[in-house]
Amino acid sequence: MEKIFLDILRPDDWHVHLREGEMLSSVLPFTYENFGSALIMPNLDTPITNISLADNYYNEICKQIPKGAEFTPNMTLYLTNYLSKDEIRKVSTHKYIKAIKMYPKGATTNSDSGISDFKNFYHLFEVMEESGVILSIHGEVTDEKVDVFERESVFIEKVLTKIIKQFPNLKIVLEHITSADAVKFINEQSMVAATITIHHLMVNRNIMLSKGIRPDFYCAPILKTEYDRRALVQAAISGNRKFFLGTDSAPHVEGKKIASCGCAGIFSSPLAIPLLIQLFEKHSSLKKIEPFVSKNGRAFYGLRQHKDRVRYVKRPKSIKVIKDIKTSDGKITVFNPYGEIYWEKEN
Ligand code: NCD
Ligand code: ZN
Repeated sequence: MEKIFLDILRPDDWHVHLREGEMLSSVLPFTYENFGSALIMPNLDTPITNISLADNYYNEICKQIPKGAEFTPNMTLYLTNYLSKDEIRKVSTHKYIKAIKMYPKGATTNSDSGISDFKNFYHLFEVMEESGVILSIHGEVTDEKVDVFERESVFIEKVLTKIIKQFPNLKIVLEHITSADAVKFINEQSMVAATITIHHLMVNRNIMLSKGIRPDFYCAPILKTEYDRRALVQAAISGNRKFFLGTDSAPHVEGKKIASCGCAGIFSSPLAIPLLIQLFEKHSSLKKIEPFVSKNGRAFYGLRQHKDRVRYVKRPKSIKVIKDIKTSDGKITVFNPYGEIYWEKEN
């Protein structure tokens, strides 16, 4: 039988949570085996708020990457009051720190050090704009008066538009966009790009809530409607350079997901690329997968394109796939809404 395969420029993950300690050791292989590089989020229990902490975290990660793995970790700093203008200027020429991440206070896992009043950071945005440092944003307001499903759109309207108006040349990545409105907004901007996760491309809030609750699909920002999901798919398969993959793979052990107050976060690194291939295939858009997973992110971050391609092969029957990984604190479920997976990396 004829072999069906797909060669794609090595993909990158522009938003991932690798954690630390044992959890880092358990999840990291799925990132370095499947991606050429990843932008690693700074929301550890002690957030990565300065260059020295980022260097230590980078070294902890690098120690665990086998020689010969074609993988580059890129780091982020967590934006707080402690970040100085001088430190931002250093980031602008730093070898592997590629963005400063802004979390609204209380928006998500380990965001207690996040920001309450955005205006207090305008002096830092000014330096970022001048020195070309990218601002990566978790775009949700956290005001309890705002409905959880509206938090992204209110953020865009009330906060992001103001930042853009004040700093028109600041390069911004609006992370993990979730809605048709966000897609439209990004299309209208010149200096703003967006990451899209696999889960926001594949599941919606009905799937999460209408036939029993699915804690494994609970994430921040929360899943939106089927209409929104379709708009995200159109953005991803369009090839438009403003949209690229950020899995937002965010592992939590089962005991923390299935609890009276469960954590937000979906662990998607292991099957990320096979799932995406199946999605693009379903939409007859396999030719557009390279811009989304390999090219657009690198272009926005100003990095040289990868040269080598990796080969994915389509098997005639669904392959046996990983369902979860074990840690001493319990297992972590692997995101797989399709169940049947036909594509796998050829080694
Ligand atoms: C992330 C986590 O657990 O660190 N959770 C999530 O649901 N996405 C944090 C984040 O990116 O919001
Ligand atoms: Zn995240």
